[in-house]
Amino acid sequence: MNNSTHSPAPVRIGIIGGGLMGREAASVFGRWFALDNHPVRAELSAVCDLQPSLLDWFRQVPTVKLLTTSHHELLASPDVDVVYVAVPHHLHKPIYLDVLRAGKDLLAEKPFGIDLEAARAIRDEAKKLGRFVRVSSEYPFLPGAQRAFAMARAGDLGPLLGIRASFLHSSDLDPQKPINWKRQVKFCGKGGVLNDLGLHVAHLPLRLGWRPARVFAQLQKIYTTRPDGKGGTAACDTWDNAALHTDVHIDGQTVPLTLEMKRMAPTETDTWIFEVMGTDRGVRYSTKEPKTLRTYRRGREQWWEKTDLGFSMPFKTITGGIFTPGFPDMLMQMWAAYLAERAGVLGDRFGCATPDEAVAQHEIWEAALASQKEAAVVAVTYS
Ligand SMILES: NC(=O)c1ccc[n+]([C@@H]2O[C@H](COP(=O)([O-])OP(=O)(O)OC[C@H]3O[C@@H](n4cnc5c(N)ncnc54)[C@H](O)[C@@H]3O)[C@@H](O)[C@H]2O)c1
Repeated sequence: MNNSTHSPAPVRIGIIGGGLMGREAASVFGRWFALDNHPVRAELSAVCDLQPSLLDWFRQVPTVKLLTTSHHELLASPDVDVVYVAVPHHLHKPIYLDVLRAGKDLLAEKPFGIDLEAARAIRDEAKKLGRFVRVSSEYPFLPGAQRAFAMARAGDLGPLLGIRASFLHSSDLDPQKPINWKRQVKFCGKGGVLNDLGLHVAHLPLRLGWRPARVFAQLQKIYTTRPDGKGGTAACDTWDNAALHTDVHIDGQTVPLTLEMKRMAPTETDTWIFEVMGTDRGVRYSTKEPKTLRTYRRGREQWWEKTDLGFSMPFKTITGGIFTPGFPDMLMQMWAAYLAERAGVLGDRFGCATPDEAVAQHEIWEAALASQKEAAVVAVTYS
């Protein structure tokens, strides 16, 4: 680990999986200079993907020295300090373990293994080898999410009445959308949408120490086949929508926590919601109104107060405070937090999801799958 706060040497990053998220990460490093005085310099040095056309895309990044179709070759490179892996879920365990055993630090993609067994194996190996590992979950880095988190953590909302965390998409409503690996259990995992969208909703509750004690899950599979993109049809066997009704114990009270993950939520595009309602105060943030924080306080009547937050990100950038952040900005903030924490200079800022939090989400998903199967409330067991 690099403990120097102002080292002129960059942290050299290798990407395994140059698809959607691999290229988003490359764009973060490409404009790293947008961060004001970040203590660490990030540089993309190597990329691995199986598809030559994607490797070609990375030729436009001048710092990249190695393009390869073998992740073993990337991991053998002395020019790589940290590896970001963005591959389908069935490959998380073997590739993440290879990264750790090659002596590299890791920013892992969610869900951190295709299932609970894989997640525990990765976490335990990282601990054994002393590698710095965090897991991708970027929405909590938005200013509204940060403010809602701070209000929830301060604990002055009064006894809590309910908590809701949601991540909603409508991307799968079109039955003619061709199949991809995220809609097939053998690649995505038996958790389906829980694996795909789940860490995004579980991250803040888990960081607040709000671990569901028991869960009643309602999981839905809507379309069971999809076009295979080659003129035929293919089985679409993952869960599409999930609503988890859970109990958490907070300050001696049992509080309902609802976790919602949906690929078929009409009218919603990338809507991430975090809401905590107490008897005295409440807070709600939704990316539907990306710069707006809603709060209320108890009175004879109640109403939402709306605050425009602007660009108040945890790590300062050249972008002025009067502007509005978006997806590339939250990804940059997540990477800024990862590399600051790795260098020991995160301070009191919000850190990326930890391996323990990623394992805990899988523990909740295991209970949710059992609940769905048995149509019963199931206790969650944490390791
Ligand atoms: N944090 C987020 O907001 C977010 C969003 C989307 C996806 N994800 C996660 O990112 C990961 C990747 O998802 P994606 O949407 O980028 O998928 P994708 O299908 O766009 O990209 C995956 C890439 O991995 C490559 N690949 C497959 N096997 C490989 C191997 N053995 N070696 C090297 N490369 C290999 C594929 O060729 C492909 O280019 C998943 O874990 C997913 O859950 C996270």
